[in-house]
Amino acid sequence: MRTRYNARITALGGYVPEHILTNHELEEMVDTNSEWIVSRTGIKERRIVNDAQVATSDLAVKAVARLLDDAKLGPDAIECVIVATSTPDYIMVSTASVVCEKAGLVNAWGVDSNAACSGFLYALTLGASLIESGRYKNVIVIGADKNSAIINYEDRNTCILFGDGAGAVLLEQTTEEEGLIDNVFKTDGCGKEHLIVQAGGSLNPSSIETINNKLNFISQNGRVVFKAAIEGMTQTCKEVFKRNDISSEDIDWLIPHQANLRIIQSVGDNLNIPIEKVKINIDRYGNTTAATIPLCLWDFKNDFKAGDKLLLTAFGAGFSWGASYLIWGKLRGDA
Ligand code: UT7
Repeated sequence: MRTRYNARITALGGYVPEHILTNHELEEMVDTNSEWIVSRTGIKERRIVNDAQVATSDLAVKAVARLLDDAKLGPDAIECVIVATSTPDYIMVSTASVVCEKAGLVNAWGVDSNAACSGFLYALTLGASLIESGRYKNVIVIGADKNSAIINYEDRNTCILFGDGAGAVLLEQTTEEEGLIDNVFKTDGCGKEHLIVQAGGSLNPSSIETINNKLNFISQNGRVVFKAAIEGMTQTCKEVFKRNDISSEDIDWLIPHQANLRIIQSVGDNLNIPIEKVKINIDRYGNTTAATIPLCLWDFKNDFKAGDKLLLTAFGAGFSWGASYLIWGKLRGDA
């Protein structure tokens, strides 16, 4: 009989740029105030790249370097890399190609996956499928975004929310009943107008007109997205419970996409998961799009122990949303 493999996370790496953009600095840039930002979003500061030469791939490469160090592996040991990003270095040439080159992943092939804030969850399942097939022994899955490249720092609706960052996980084969167990994902383009970068793609190529009309920046209808995010994340988490015959009491840790503290709290409440079990770092990093979940896993990895049940959930542009259920296994670095 063919061996059945699961994909488990065995090492992690994360990186945020050193430069901190505080709420007080934003008060000087747009009509806002720190009290409003903290009370409405939970964000106290975010990290942004302040060097024009630094791209999304550079954030990803730093996260990969930390992951390899954590794994005690050389870059030549990696077979595949998937980069979830909606801020690729280039429209053509995948960010994964650049990451393979800069990180020295000489034996890996790589591909990008773009599903905005849900990108990492989707990429995690794609990477896990390669391992479950038995064809690959390891895959690095990265969530990385340099949001500052597509933010209009004159638009208070968006500039207070987003930050830059990258997180990476190493997936490896296991025959144990652990690792990524299940997911419920949804994608529906009818939500696209509410959270979008209008120009720079094939429909509206960049032009002087798109630049002048600020169509190359993120625009968002916050209230619509807010409501849809709570509903979408709650519903897909509940479907995961049902499919796997588990309940909120079985969950040790909820790792939600970090878009707004009030969204996170509402999802936790809807699922009856107490706040002590919810991992939150939005206060320090803001919304780093595809990077929020891997950055959270990396930030809090010392709190997770083998056998813990983790529920990961995200909502983002598209709309795209979903939930993944995983059982934490031993990391390479564990004694
Ligand atoms: O990661 C992808 C998914 N993205 C999300 O999940 C984001 C979802 N949306 C949100 O997080 C929230 O909708 C925002 C944080 C974007 C906005 O918060 P809100 O509580 O929905 O605010 P609102 O848009 O309903 O605006 C409330 C008030 C308005 O004033 P009035 O009309 O009540 O006088 C706004 O003009 O707050 C005002 N406002 C601000 N005030 C100070 C809006 N933005 C700001 C601001 N500073 N930055």
